[in-house]
Amino acid sequence: MPLVKFTKENKEIEVPHGANLRKEAINAGVNLYQGLNGIGAGVNRYLNCHGFGQCGMCRVRITKGMENASPMGIMEKARFRCPVPTPVTPLGFDPLPCMAFIGNENTMRLACRTSVLGDMEVETGPELNLFGENFFS
Ligand code: FES
Repeated sequence: MPLVKFTKENKEIEVPHGANLRKEAINAGVNLYQGLNGIGAGVNRYLNCHGFGQCGMCRVRITKGMENASPMGIMEKARFRCPVPTPVTPLGFDPLPCMAFIGNENTMRLACRTSVLGDMEVETGPELNLFGENFFS
Protein backbone atom coordinates (compact mmCIF):
# COMPACT_ATOMS: atom_id res chain seq x y z
CA MET A 1 0.00 0.00 0.00
CA PRO A 2 1.34 3.47 -0.89
CA LEU A 3 2.61 5.82 1.81
CA VAL A 4 1.61 9.49 1.77
CA LYS A 5 3.61 11.90 3.88
CA PHE A 6 2.14 15.32 4.66
CA THR A 7 5.29 17.32 5.26
CA LYS A 8 3.83 20.38 7.05
CA GLU A 9 1.81 18.24 9.43
CA ASN A 10 4.61 15.66 9.78
CA LYS A 11 2.05 12.93 9.32
CA GLU A 12 2.50 9.74 7.32
CA ILE A 13 -0.42 7.53 6.31
CA GLU A 14 -0.82 4.32 4.37
CA VAL A 15 -3.56 4.44 1.74
CA PRO A 16 -5.06 1.90 -0.66
CA HIS A 17 -3.71 1.93 -4.22
CA GLY A 18 -5.76 4.43 -6.26
CA ALA A 19 -7.15 6.23 -3.20
CA ASN A 20 -8.36 9.81 -3.55
CA LEU A 21 -5.82 12.16 -1.97
CA ARG A 22 -8.45 14.59 -0.60
CA LYS A 23 -10.50 11.89 1.09
CA GLU A 24 -7.45 10.27 2.65
CA ALA A 25 -6.18 13.63 3.92
CA ILE A 26 -9.53 14.44 5.51
CA ASN A 27 -9.72 10.98 7.09
CA ALA A 28 -6.25 11.57 8.54
CA GLY A 29 -7.28 14.94 10.00
CA VAL A 30 -5.21 17.02 7.59
CA ASN A 31 -6.71 20.40 6.62
CA LEU A 32 -6.22 20.88 2.89
CA TYR A 33 -8.11 24.16 2.81
CA GLN A 34 -5.56 26.59 4.16
CA GLY A 35 -6.67 29.65 2.26
CA LEU A 36 -4.30 32.28 0.97
CA ASN A 37 -1.03 31.97 2.84
CA GLY A 38 -2.99 30.78 5.88
CA ILE A 39 -5.66 33.50 5.73
CA GLY A 40 -9.15 32.03 5.58
CA ALA A 41 -8.18 28.52 6.63
CA GLY A 42 -11.06 28.21 9.10
CA VAL A 43 -13.75 29.39 6.67
CA ASN A 44 -12.39 27.53 3.65
CA ARG A 45 -12.66 24.28 5.54
CA TYR A 46 -16.43 24.57 5.06
CA LEU A 47 -16.77 26.88 2.04
CA ASN A 48 -15.30 24.73 -0.70
CA CYS A 49 -16.66 22.63 -3.55
CA HIS A 50 -16.31 19.39 -1.55
CA GLY A 51 -14.30 17.54 -4.15
CA PHE A 52 -15.84 18.62 -7.45
CA GLY A 53 -12.67 20.23 -8.77
CA GLN A 54 -14.21 23.70 -8.97
CA CYS A 55 -12.92 25.84 -6.13
CA GLY A 56 -9.19 25.10 -6.39
CA MET A 57 -8.80 25.40 -2.64
CA CYS A 58 -7.57 21.84 -2.12
CA ARG A 59 -4.43 22.55 -4.12
CA VAL A 60 -1.28 20.85 -2.86
CA ARG A 61 2.30 20.52 -4.00
CA ILE A 62 3.56 16.99 -4.48
CA THR A 63 7.18 17.50 -3.58
CA LYS A 64 8.22 13.87 -4.08
CA GLY A 65 6.60 11.06 -6.03
CA MET A 66 4.73 13.13 -8.63
CA GLU A 67 5.14 10.15 -10.96
CA ASN A 68 2.92 8.21 -8.54
CA ALA A 69 -0.02 10.58 -8.98
CA SER A 70 -2.75 9.95 -11.53
CA PRO A 71 -2.47 12.09 -14.68
CA MET A 72 -4.05 15.53 -14.60
CA GLY A 73 -7.51 15.58 -16.19
CA ILE A 74 -9.07 18.24 -18.39
CA MET A 75 -11.12 19.78 -15.59
CA GLU A 76 -8.10 20.12 -13.33
CA LYS A 77 -5.98 21.61 -16.11
CA ALA A 78 -8.74 24.10 -16.85
CA ARG A 79 -9.07 25.05 -13.18
CA PHE A 80 -5.40 25.94 -12.97
CA ARG A 81 -5.34 27.83 -16.25
CA CYS A 82 -8.67 29.71 -16.33
CA PRO A 83 -10.04 31.85 -13.49
CA VAL A 84 -13.65 30.73 -12.96
CA PRO A 85 -16.51 33.16 -12.33
CA THR A 86 -17.62 33.31 -8.70
CA PRO A 87 -19.94 35.71 -6.88
CA VAL A 88 -17.88 35.37 -3.69
CA THR A 89 -14.81 37.40 -4.64
CA PRO A 90 -14.95 41.16 -5.30
CA LEU A 91 -13.36 40.63 -8.72
CA GLY A 92 -16.21 38.40 -9.88
CA PHE A 93 -13.77 35.59 -10.65
CA ASP A 94 -11.27 33.62 -8.65
CA PRO A 95 -7.70 33.94 -9.90
CA LEU A 96 -5.94 32.35 -6.91
CA PRO A 97 -5.56 28.77 -8.17
CA CYS A 98 -4.13 30.11 -11.43
CA MET A 99 -1.75 32.43 -9.61
CA ALA A 100 -0.61 29.63 -7.31
CA PHE A 101 0.01 27.38 -10.32
CA ILE A 102 2.57 29.76 -11.84
CA GLY A 103 6.02 28.40 -11.11
CA ASN A 104 4.58 25.17 -9.69
CA GLU A 105 3.33 23.63 -12.92
CA ASN A 106 5.21 20.38 -12.36
CA THR A 107 4.27 19.85 -8.74
CA MET A 108 0.85 21.36 -8.09
CA ARG A 109 -2.32 19.27 -8.07
CA LEU A 110 -5.88 19.45 -6.81
CA ALA A 111 -6.08 16.83 -4.07
CA CYS A 112 -9.69 16.05 -4.95
CA ARG A 113 -8.69 15.15 -8.52
CA THR A 114 -5.60 13.10 -7.61
CA SER A 115 -5.42 9.36 -7.14
CA VAL A 116 -2.49 7.96 -5.19
CA LEU A 117 -0.71 5.25 -7.17
CA GLY A 118 2.49 5.08 -5.11
CA ASP A 119 4.49 6.78 -2.36
CA MET A 120 4.49 10.56 -2.29
CA GLU A 121 5.25 13.60 -0.15
CA VAL A 122 2.62 16.31 -0.09
CA GLU A 123 2.81 19.95 0.99
CA THR A 124 -0.64 21.26 1.92
CA GLY A 125 -1.61 24.92 1.45
CA PRO A 126 1.38 25.93 -0.69
CA GLU A 127 2.06 29.62 -0.20
CA LEU A 128 1.59 32.14 -2.94
CA ASN A 129 4.88 33.80 -3.69
CA LEU A 130 3.80 37.03 -5.35
CA PHE A 131 7.16 38.72 -5.11
CA GLY A 132 9.43 35.78 -5.87
CA GLU A 133 11.20 35.15 -9.11
CA ASN A 134 8.00 33.97 -10.82
CA PHE A 135 5.98 37.15 -10.33
CA PHE A 136 6.63 40.75 -11.31
CA SER A 137 10.32 40.29 -11.89
S1 FES B 1 -12.28 20.58 -3.22
FE1 FES B 1 -12.69 22.19 -4.58
S2 FES B 1 -11.24 21.89 -6.12
FE2 FES B 1 -10.86 20.28 -4.77
